[in-house]
Amino acid sequence: MLDIAFAQPALPTAGALVLLVAESAAEPAAHEALFAAADEATGGTLTRAVAVAEFRGKVGQATTILAPSAALTRVILVGVGKPGELTKLQAEEAGGHAAAALAREATASVDASALSPELAAHVALGAALRGYRFDRYRTAEKAEDKRLLAKLTVLTANIDAAAAAWAPLKGVAGGVFLARDLASEPPNVLNPAEMAERCRALTSLGLEVEVLGPSELKKLGFGALLGVAQGSVNEARVVVMQWHGVSGPAKSGKGKKAGAAAATRPQPVAFVGKGVTFDSGGISIKPAGGMEDMKWDMAGAGAVIGAMAALAGRQARVDAVGIVGLVENMPSGSAQRPGDVVTTLSGQTVEIINTDAEGRMVLADLLWYCQSQFNPKFMVDLATLTGAIIVSLGHEHGGMFSNDDALAAHLSQAGAASGEKLWRMPMGEAYDRQLKSDIADMKHVTGRPGSAITAAQFLLRFANAKPWAHLDIAGMAWSSKDAACVPKGATAYGVRLLDQMVAEHYEG
Ligand code: BES
Ligand code: MN
Ligand code: ZN
Repeated sequence: MLDIAFAQPALPTAGALVLLVAESAAEPAAHEALFAAADEATGGTLTRAVAVAEFRGKVGQATTILAPSAALTRVILVGVGKPGELTKLQAEEAGGHAAAALAREATASVDASALSPELAAHVALGAALRGYRFDRYRTAEKAEDKRLLAKLTVLTANIDAAAAAWAPLKGVAGGVFLARDLASEPPNVLNPAEMAERCRALTSLGLEVEVLGPSELKKLGFGALLGVAQGSVNEARVVVMQWHGVSGPAKSGKGKKAGAAAATRPQPVAFVGKGVTFDSGGISIKPAGGMEDMKWDMAGAGAVIGAMAALAGRQARVDAVGIVGLVENMPSGSAQRPGDVVTTLSGQTVEIINTDAEGRMVLADLLWYCQSQFNPKFMVDLATLTGAIIVSLGHEHGGMFSNDDALAAHLSQAGAASGEKLWRMPMGEAYDRQLKSDIADMKHVTGRPGSAITAAQFLLRFANAKPWAHLDIAGMAWSSKDAACVPKGATAYGVRLLDQMVAEHYEG
């Protein structure tokens, strides 16, 4: 991750300088100290550039000036709008734009002295998030294609306040990076066992991590999840991650306050994730074109893991549980068939219609397990569940389905605040009725009309009337183009949303 430092505003003697410039009608920026200093050091180049570019300091406006002096490699002007109006999200976007323009610089400073220290920290967050790159498997990259920027100095008058605001944001960025890494990994590397190991490593952040293997899952009765996994040589795992930010760890660790007895613990918030490490469709096999995308069919689980890492990384004052179901959906002689009937953990039986509708089978057992074991305040599941949600909402909103208006409102607000937007979809009895089966308690698939909704109705049958929301993130988990704070590729959509929701509504 980009190394972030905070320092007092001063004209750098070398490298690149980003000036965050407030909007003004007449002569933008001329009254800002560092602008004036840089302008003088470059013989008035900045003033001339502002005029030529018609730069007014509006949010989203940016201009780059190359080699304006012998010392400075580039000066980048980024507009931050009218003083006092910039939102955290806009500050992050300014940081993201700056980081993109700085990719080929070795050292750089961002002058954030026009902003509050808290917003300066959000500029740092945006820059760090945009600086992400997954290059583990590139062995022969040309030197000129490499990203150089490793350290960014954010200039602000109140260094201590900015650093204090950055500390928790750095924890959140760590969760985002983890989720992006997981979704980017190829499916031959990131199989269920490997993904469980990556979860186990999070004990270093103070998370309690428990891994259930195939024999335990069988004993417990995870029939729906195991039905999906049975076609693959890479056996299933379920991982339970717990963060006790209120009640303290179960066993009294050294230096930590002794944990409260389980019975006196507050009800945790609960997140549940679909972790299909590769979705071939199984016997109902997918067409070849684009099938490689199904390596990121574990992005729901990745978001849950990233969110748990974020909560631990910023020491959130909440008790949270994250449960992920890790399976590979493959065709083989041992694979599940259309027509099979499976008994789920809940005891309800399901007729399998299409083995490509595997995600809901995984979630069915996870939701039931979650509500029966952890007495959660609510459950939110995240899943790349249906192509139909992409038809509905494109790549702009995740689809939200819920049986609880308050929970849905909290999620919507968190979506708007984090930039990971949600759109609530309808549910109802008429959709539910379509799940009727002639042989079992239900089938898991209906016709194509409204099929993101009927998938949600299926899940609702396993929430046992607990407050629940389902986020269908099939259109949001991967991006084909760069955004301000999200380089193209794995987005980690959901991490910031869940973190924001907890921060806003569930932290004591
Ligand atoms: N993982 C897919 C959904 C998906 C599609 C995610 C495109 C990301 C991008 C899911 O398991 C699936 O195959 N869903 C089917 C369900 C159908 C068989 C009822 C679908 O949406 O076509
Ligand atoms: Mn599928
Ligand atoms: Zn899938």
